[in-house]
Parts: sequence; C-alpha cells; structure tokens
Amino acid sequence: MLCSVSALVLVFTSLVTAHPAADAKPSGSVTINHDDPLIFYHGRWTNEPSSWWDGTGIKLYVQGLTSLTLNVGEATSAPVAPIGLSIDYSPYVSLNISTGVNVLPIPAATTSNGGKKTSVVRILAEDGSNNRIQIDSLVLNAGAKLLPYEPSKLHFQFIGDSLTAGYMDPHGVVDSWAVLIGESFKAEYNINAMSGICLTDQPCFGNARGLSFQYFRTEDTEYYYTTDHNYTTPWNFKKDLTPTHIWITIGANDASYNVTSSAFEEIYATFLTNVRKLYPTQPIFIDKPWAWPHPDGTFGYFYPDAYKNVVAKRNAAGDKHIYLIDMTGWLDFSDVFPDNQHPTPEGHVKVAAQMTTWLENWGLKPLANWATLP
Ligand SMILES: *[C@@H]1O[C@H](CO)[C@@H](O)[C@H](O)[C@H]1NC(C)=O
Ligand SMILES: *[C@@H]1O[C@H](CO)[C@@H](O)[C@H](O)[C@H]1NC(C)=O
Ligand SMILES: *[C@@H]1O[C@H](CO)[C@@H](O)[C@H](O)[C@H]1NC(C)=O
Repeated sequence: MLCSVSALVLVFTSLVTAHPAADAKPSGSVTINHDDPLIFYHGRWTNEPSSWWDGTGIKLYVQGLTSLTLNVGEATSAPVAPIGLSIDYSPYVSLNISTGVNVLPIPAATTSNGGKKTSVVRILAEDGSNNRIQIDSLVLNAGAKLLPYEPSKLHFQFIGDSLTAGYMDPHGVVDSWAVLIGESFKAEYNINAMSGICLTDQPCFGNARGLSFQYFRTEDTEYYYTTDHNYTTPWNFKKDLTPTHIWITIGANDASYNVTSSAFEEIYATFLTNVRKLYPTQPIFIDKPWAWPHPDGTFGYFYPDAYKNVVAKRNAAGDKHIYLIDMTGWLDFSDVFPDNQHPTPEGHVKVAAQMTTWLENWGLKPLANWATLP
C-alpha cells in the first residue's frame, strides 16, 4: 500500500516536471476565463463553450502579446482538432490542438514591442468533422492585456455543402472560396456548410439531417456521431452579428439522392421563408453551382432550372433582395481533384475571383481596412 502510494507520488512529480506549463504557469501570466467578454466568439458555440461547424472560432485583440496558451476541455475533438491560426491578418497556418494545454506559436515579428504593440489573433476550426473546441481558458504572458475587438461592418453568412466546406482541401474550409471572399472583403464571416448534406431534411452521405433543419441548430450533423452530445439544440440567432449578405450554395447532394427538381424547389422555398424570418431584407445570393466537371470536358449538371425558378418566385412575391448567381462555367476539370471532382485550393481561388467580379459589378466592394488593426 505504502509502496504504491509513493510510486504514485513519484509519477505525479515527474509529470509536473515534464509539463511545467500545465500547472506551474510563468509568474505574472494572465489567465482569461472562457466567459471573458473580451473574447470575440463567432460561429456556433454551446454554453460550455464548445464549437460546432467548421469556420467557427474566436478573435482576440491583445496588447503586449508574446505568448498564448489555449486550455481546452474534454469535448474537444479527439485525437486532434485542426485549427487555423492567423496573427495580424497573415494567412491562416494549420495546427492541431487537443484536450489540455496548447501553447500556440506566436511569430516573433508579431509579438510585443515594449508592451505597446497590439496583435490581432484569429483562430478557427478548419475541419469538416473534427471541429469541436471546448475553450476553458486562455493564458497570456505577463503584462499582456485583452482589448475589445471591433468587428468589421461587413458580416457574411455562407450556407452550403462540400463545395463551400473545402472538402478534400488540405486546410479544409480555410481553402474554400467562402473564407477567401471573407478575407479579401475584410468581412466577419460565419459558415454553415457540411460535406455531403442535402437541403432536404433526410439522411445524405452520413448526415442524419438536412440543412433545412440543421441550419437552425447549434450543432452540425456530427452530433449524431458524438457520444457526449448526441442531440441538437435550437441556435439562438441573437448571438450572431446580423449578416449583411447571405450566400446559399446547395443542391449537389439532393441531386445525387434523386430529389426531384420540383421537390427541391419546394424545400428551397420553405427554407428561404424560414431564413427571411431571421433576415427580412438582407441580400441573399442563390448560387447555382458550377456542376461536376468530367475528364472528357463535359459537365454533370443538376437542377438546370430550379435555382432561377426559386429566385423568380420570390421576386414575383415581392422579395427584391434575392439574387441568382449562376456559377456555370466557373470551373473545369483542371480545377478539381480528379477522384472526387471537388475544387482544389487553386479551384477555390478561381471561384473566389469570379465571385469577386460578380459582387463588384453588383455593387459590393472590399473594405479598405479591417476595423481592428494590429
Ligand atoms: C494534424 O494531425 C493529422 C493526423 O491526426 C495529420 O495528418 C496532420 O498533418 C496534422 N496537421 C498538422 C498541421 O500538424
Ligand atoms: C445517436 O442517437 C441516434 C438515435 O437518435 C443513434 O442512432 C446513434 O447511434 C447515436 N450515436 C451515438 C454515437 O451514440
Ligand atoms: C438515383 O437514381 C440513379 C438512377 O436511377 C440510381 O442509380 C441511384 O442509385 C439513385 N440514388 C439514390 C441515392 O437513390
């Protein structure tokens, strides 16, 4: 008995020594609890708070930053949750975090200069499935201080499937045209896109529910595979910055599941009615996807008329803020992964460029500066 207790003490001692960051914080370091109002959360979080949906994350405006540690809880995706980290608006760098203590690499060039310099830190979940992060606390170096992050005036909302989620891309949603557009327009952006999901509320490619249901929930469809949280809860849309512009890019999977065009139009109309209850007058862009490029140069088209019918019906009913963006021809076979016909990172760059041209012609210009500057 005595023997095993002292063995335990020895093991414990050596653990503490091996991982000083876990228990022995450098003196003067600043611990920020997860409920600190100066943490700017975006996307969907539970009260824990744990994140759902790729693209969900936090933004921090920090004075005098030299080090940042993320303490994350048990709900965090195991074995790892891939995240993107961007300091001072540099391109997102991919990292894996996991339950426990995660010391994030802060490049020396962006750190404190006499305690006066400020830094903007942005973190988002980049994976379609391993996207849960349960934030317990953040630890900043001694002397560092959180300041209020002021969000951009542009708030983009992207709703979609794998074509928006960056399916198969090395950095997941970070490679997608949605993030590229959000970044280049200097917008805040929320993304609700699940690979394989149908708009129709039916099981599709491993998603238990369709987007016409799931969009209104806190959790993404991964809830179904989650033992500690195998249920969904209504999302409180008051927690979001109200979107200024909304994109919907959906239908590829409904078509694969042989949902008829008329059934798809009907569910789309109902979905728009429900989205309009939240956002009565915001511009909604109904994207007609670019179709599946085939190696022989032909395309796998789907729903040739549904998107324009959906837009025409709403316009006829007096909704003047619904716009069709016809992406037909935006990509060809050289822009997609040959095995699965989803856009490569370069393909997403091409979609983003065409979308930018469309938006500029429509009247939306990128902002000159972010609202919070490092
Ligand atoms: C994250 O972990 C996965 C395997 O779990 C690995 O394939 C990937 O390369 C890792 N990413 C980074 C940035 O280390
Ligand atoms: C989640 O619940 C559903 C029933 O609603 C069940 O079919 C599924 O297997 C559960 N998943 C897990 C991981 O327990
Ligand atoms: C859709 O229809 C095609 C052609 O009839 C069939 O091969 C395929 O199995 C169907 N897919 C589903 C998911 O029902």
